[in-house]
Amino acid sequence: MKLEGKAFIITGGCGSIGGGAAKAIIAKGGIAVVFDVLPKDAGEAKVKTYHPERAFYFKVDISNVDLVSEACSEALKVIPKRSLAGGVHCAAVATSRKWSNKLKDSVADFQKTLNINVNGTFIVDACVADAINSQYPDEGPFAPRTDDERGCIINIASAVAHPVPARCLTYGPSKTAVIGISQGMADFLGPSGIRVCSVSPAVVASGLMGPDRIPYFASELNASAIFPRRLSQPEEVVHGIIYLLENSMMNDFELRVDGGWRGVTNWAGAKDPRENAPSLE
Ligand SMILES: NC(=O)c1ccc[n+]([C@@H]2O[C@H](COP(=O)([O-])OP(=O)(O)OC[C@H]3O[C@@H](n4cnc5c(N)ncnc54)[C@H](O)[C@@H]3O)[C@@H](O)[C@H]2O)c1
Repeated sequence: MKLEGKAFIITGGCGSIGGGAAKAIIAKGGIAVVFDVLPKDAGEAKVKTYHPERAFYFKVDISNVDLVSEACSEALKVIPKRSLAGGVHCAAVATSRKWSNKLKDSVADFQKTLNINVNGTFIVDACVADAINSQYPDEGPFAPRTDDERGCIINIASAVAHPVPARCLTYGPSKTAVIGISQGMADFLGPSGIRVCSVSPAVVASGLMGPDRIPYFASELNASAIFPRRLSQPEEVVHGIIYLLENSMMNDFELRVDGGWRGVTNWAGAKDPRENAPSLE
């Protein structure tokens, strides 16, 4: 798929990976429609630094289906006719609390994480796909089955989606679900000519991680990544996103961009991780 002239809804587009994806799509001649939770003025000011004309901002909480649906409708009004060609869904949260054996205390984090990371992914994929299909009112979403590519949606999962390490009790399963949603959506949306893939990064130094956790993760990567044994740069993840968008044969695929990192918790012979890991996510 050529990105030139095509518009993409980028959730979390004021963040590290989402911002990088927006700029990369614009650099290819595309249009970035950013959904994020920054106040309207701050969000608009930020995306205008990406490009003065080919970047738009909507303040949207992606876990709210009415807001996402409405923002998709508004987005269709500001971009050229039939230009919406997909989404890059980067908005997510990672909660954090001190290690403890009282797992019940993690339930609130689990519910919050599921609401944004899992419900939000289903909502974004559904609303973006419906918005793409709404550009073809005469054809309808189901019939006739199309051979023309209408678009591509990329969801961001994580290397800790499988296997899920002890440290990622709430965040890990939320990303496992993101991979499941991506697979189901890919199968459902095939007849509409919409591909769905996911990208699973390892650890990227971003606002999501916060500075406290970075030294811990740097040493974990040094110990258990294959190569390179270091944090990823956002651009390295964005490179994978753009590859999946552009290559029309890539569908129903999870692309791990993780240096071969398997983030399992190493209990054997080591100090109890609860003594040195900063938190449960
Ligand atoms: N940073 C990492 O190490 C890492 C690793 C694996 C996967 N990921 C995933 O990559 C994606 C992007 O993460 P990032 O590192 O760029 O983080 P980031 O914190 O820089 O960006 C996330 C963005 O999402 C926005 N956001 C959060 N909740 C929202 C909501 N309810 N509605 C709308 N926007 C919301 C935030 O405002 C922020 O701009 C996420 O899905 C994350 O889980 C990140």
